[in-house]
Amino acid sequence: RKMRKKIVAGNWKMNLNLQEGLALAKEVNDALAADKPNCDVIICTPFIHLASVAGVLDSQLVGLGAENCADKEQGAYTGEVSAEMVKSTGAQYVILGHSERREYYNETPEILKEKVLLALKNGLKVIFCIGETLAEREANKQNEVVKAELEGSVFNLSAEEFANVIVAYEPIWAIGTGKTATAEQAEEIHAFIRSVIAEKYGNEVAENTSILYGGSAKPSNAPELFAKPNIDGGLIGGAALKCADFKGIIDAWK
Ligand code: G3P
Repeated sequence: RKMRKKIVAGNWKMNLNLQEGLALAKEVNDALAADKPNCDVIICTPFIHLASVAGVLDSQLVGLGAENCADKEQGAYTGEVSAEMVKSTGAQYVILGHSERREYYNETPEILKEKVLLALKNGLKVIFCIGETLAEREANKQNEVVKAELEGSVFNLSAEEFANVIVAYEPIWAIGTGKTATAEQAEEIHAFIRSVIAEKYGNEVAENTSILYGGSAKPSNAPELFAKPNIDGGLIGGAALKCADFKGIIDAWK
């Protein structure tokens, strides 16, 4: 049905120490080796776990990503981690623009634009997050918010570069709240996002762009969400921390 890639990506956020993370990564890898997924599966971990987790994943089976990268190439930026460093661990992806980074670490559209460029330049695929707050949704501003987020940080890319961007729509009011957007609400805005991409890059690029839903996705609601024509998978927080839940969501593609 959908030509574009179907994806389930986990975002561990700031959870799991190294031993716990390695155990979970191994468990997920083994579960998928035994029962092949019908979609691309990606695990995004804290920087400090990346190299070790890369060592326990079969890269043909599970992709690996970081949750952030620096907006500078290299040099005197104490504590920062560059896109090149991320890539050198064996990771292939990076999440950028997560609402938690925008809100708690003041990542502006301009900063995110730099991060996206550096990630792509270093051969990483970008999972670019957009989404509105509850107040914005209540004011019916969700469409203009997500459009501005795309325009502000990724619409400077060429169509060729944009092919390495996966969009994740995460309504902020649904993140970690247990409140999922209804499948209809999600489909409506995913279709809008695709139309905005089509206006900018044309239909073919828009049709090939994977648009993931994020926000309290779980095994029980994933099948309904993934059945929608414009929802190409999920970016999973809490439910990615337990192998059974993550696998349950992956299996929603079967
Ligand atoms: O990036 C994934 C995320 O923000 C959703 O989190 O815990 O609601 O699945 P969660």
